[in-house]
Amino acid sequence: MKIIRVKDSVEGGRVAFELLKEKLAAGAQTLGLATGSTPIEFYKQIVASDLDLSGLRSINLDEYVGLSADNDQSYHHFMHQNLFHAKPFKESFLPNGLAEDLDAETKRYDALLEQYPVGLQILGIGNNGHIGFNEPGTPFEAKTQVVDLAEDTIKANARFFDDESEVPRQAISMGISSILAAKSIILMAYGAAKADAIAGMVNGQPTTDLPASSLQNHPEVYVIVDDAAASKLD
Ligand code: GLP
Repeated sequence: MKIIRVKDSVEGGRVAFELLKEKLAAGAQTLGLATGSTPIEFYKQIVASDLDLSGLRSINLDEYVGLSADNDQSYHHFMHQNLFHAKPFKESFLPNGLAEDLDAETKRYDALLEQYPVGLQILGIGNNGHIGFNEPGTPFEAKTQVVDLAEDTIKANARFFDDESEVPRQAISMGISSILAAKSIILMAYGAAKADAIAGMVNGQPTTDLPASSLQNHPEVYVIVDDAAASKLD
């Protein structure tokens, strides 16, 4: 893992944007995208640039079960607001949280990932070390699946909803093995709440208790962190 220390999320977004340009120049055709507050500055950099994404595809990590694409807490909505409205891709894929047959939806997603291998995957990290919505305990071999959100994830994500009771209890998430299949990975983390997860991911033994520690098995991971998130690193 290559650790890149930055002052804040604005500088982190800039560093990630430079890496994105490098990977595009090297031939990346499909971007794996993430939601959450962490990548927002990165998306701002793209929106403010003259980069043309219309020849590329994007595949997002996850979506809540039960939220329609136009629900303003859905990840469909987040991606539209933060990136797609200004920088449309040739095709953009997210799991369908309203699919009647969720099992079939996970299979559809795995087929997409096989058809369009991800050249560069963007990741945030949950306070409990989750990536995508792969919560502690998820096997590293997991493919796209329907997941029950951990209690602390529901609490952490409640800040985006009017009330904690409105946070969906399930999501569809790309699995850890699908994330590890990306050619290059950028994981960003800012703030003290991420410090334990970052220390475990970088310095600990790989363990399913900390899903992000699976990234130690990947050959090209850039970890962009501010001082607070890096504060517990060896
Ligand atoms: C959610 C998403 C993750 C994200 C995490 C951290 O649970 N499924 O992809 O990395 O939250 O969110 P934030 O960036 O807001 O801290």
